[in-house]
Amino acid sequence: MANLETKYLGLTLKNPLILSSSGLSVSVAKIKEAQEAGISAVVLKSVFEEQINFEAANFQAKSADNPEAFDYLQGYVTANTIEKYLTLIHEAKKAVTIPIIASINCFSDKKWIDFAEKFAEAGADALELNLYIMPDSRKKDAGDYEKEYFNIVKKVVKRSKIPVAVKISHHFTNLINVVDNIKAAGAKGVVMFNRFYEPDIDINKLEMVNSHVFSSEADARFALRWTAIISDQVPGIDISTSTGVHNAQGAIKMLLAGATTVQVCSVVYQKGMGEIPQIIGGIEQWMHSRGFDNVGLLRGLMSYKSIPDSSVYQRSQFMKYFSNFE
Ligand SMILES: Cc1cc2nc3c(=O)[nH]c(=O)nc-3n(C[C@H](O)[C@H](O)[C@H](O)COP(=O)(O)O)c2cc1C
Repeated sequence: MANLETKYLGLTLKNPLILSSSGLSVSVAKIKEAQEAGISAVVLKSVFEEQINFEAANFQAKSADNPEAFDYLQGYVTANTIEKYLTLIHEAKKAVTIPIIASINCFSDKKWIDFAEKFAEAGADALELNLYIMPDSRKKDAGDYEKEYFNIVKKVVKRSKIPVAVKISHHFTNLINVVDNIKAAGAKGVVMFNRFYEPDIDINKLEMVNSHVFSSEADARFALRWTAIISDQVPGIDISTSTGVHNAQGAIKMLLAGATTVQVCSVVYQKGMGEIPQIIGGIEQWMHSRGFDNVGLLRGLMSYKSIPDSSVYQRSQFMKYFSNFE
């Protein structure tokens, strides 16, 4: 039997497959179900910085003529949202043995940073920071925004007693430099990549509609390329690859590219928790058929530097394709 044990953010996981942050990890019952299916760790649904602000703003509107009541209610609402989340962490820790990773979706270094240490107190084993700052100012350049990211990570790491991973988007010019700075800010891991809600337009109804929420297998390629490159170019930071992993083959590819762990979401929404043992079993079978005793032996075997011609991860792959394309 191949050994799938994996170290991620200093935690010992029984295999490299993690359930990513989403509605799939919103209750203790679902987290238990995921553990029973064989998942090695769960990232809880994110607490949203906006969610806290929004709830507080609603109370502001309702209590506009009573500022004292508003101050009280705002404090209450903020505490209550967090309270529920901390209870989920606490209850989940009692119910399962796998690591529980708390998640916060944020874009500023404001009030929520005070909450960072509470996650550890509630029992979370690690914290995933889903960090995205919408670049909406003509006055700031890319570097200004990136500094904000690094500053937030630094502040959270300082306040947090548990390891921090940062979930990023691919909307950066130089991902290598960004991940290097995230590591320098104290993060132990990087999650690549976040998937965004993208608005769409129904041209018949002239209405805004939701675009596709779930990924397809084809979406994995961008994450595959950057896992392969970052795992070589930024040593010393764990990579958890998230996007487009829908089966064992997809997971194996990410591990070969250099991922420490692989996260799944869309496939579990679409096919159920029963896919988890399929993926883990598939990795195990493949390792067995190839003679890999442990997962460390295959990790990074096909990364940027490990393959004879690393340029296939760069532009030449694209050029080669089009030069033969008629
Ligand atoms: C319905 C849904 C809800 C999600 N909610 C969150 C969330 O709260 N926090 C977060 O960091 N990512 C969230 N994600 C993103 C997933 O964690 C994951 O990174 C993304 O879906 C890519 O992985 P996949 O291709 O396996 O779906 C959500 C994704 C979906 C589909």
